[in-house]
Amino acid sequence: MNILKLPERKRKHQKIVMVTCYDYTSARILEQSDVDMLLVGDSAAMVMHGHHTTLPITVEMMAWHTAAVRRGAPGKFIVGDLPFLSYRKSLPDTMEAVRLLMQAGAEAVKLEGIAGNEETIHHIVQSGVPVMGHIGLTPQSVNQLGGFHVQGGTAQDRERLKAEALACQSAGCFALVLECVPESLAGEITADLAIPTIGIGAGVQTDGQVLVLQDLLGLNLDFRPKFVRRYLDGSQQWLEAFNRYARDVREGSFPASEERYAG
Ligand code: KIV
Repeated sequence: MNILKLPERKRKHQKIVMVTCYDYTSARILEQSDVDMLLVGDSAAMVMHGHHTTLPITVEMMAWHTAAVRRGAPGKFIVGDLPFLSYRKSLPDTMEAVRLLMQAGAEAVKLEGIAGNEETIHHIVQSGVPVMGHIGLTPQSVNQLGGFHVQGGTAQDRERLKAEALACQSAGCFALVLECVPESLAGEITADLAIPTIGIGAGVQTDGQVLVLQDLLGLNLDFRPKFVRRYLDGSQQWLEAFNRYARDVREGSFPASEERYAG
């Protein structure tokens, strides 16, 4: 996968599959999978570090996660998420954040929203770094959005989001994440754009889908929005494994003779 292959995938209606990843061990497994792209998302703040929003994660932490994922998945296309405010302070600060993620192993960066970001995106792209846009529910703006809600509910919001999507494309984005918007709106935006859309909670009409790894594997016990499909009952399986281990240790059946060093 590289950004040149994406328009063709859109043209041929071949869906793009992206999943988030934050660590080396998961990346090694994903490296062997049929998944096209890995997103080192700032959702790491929530699913890896236990925060209630994505706001606390820093560029340095994102670079650290990106480097671990790159070591585990040398062959995958990796998008690094620019965290909260890292692209809103000044151009030198933005480019330093981009440098950290790219030198950690990303092949592209993602940033949220378009208002006030047009010039920034243009500059990053002109510097040779592909940019993925992200509109709809933009978690870095959770305080302004008043929570994690579906976006695009009114006719006015729909028009605004359609204009934002076109502006992302004009600014130079190579792809666009649509998060938590009605399916019909995601379909209209997908039809309007030459660049591929990647949906999360945006229905089936987008050019691709992205899910958070912990949600997909059923490891996120207290998060069950309707758009998440669990492909594994991960927390139950982990729990059973931990409890079997605890039982075996207490019973003295672990380690068994073949699991001990003789001599
Ligand atoms: O950080 C993230 O995981 C994301 C996806 C939800 C698109 O931005």
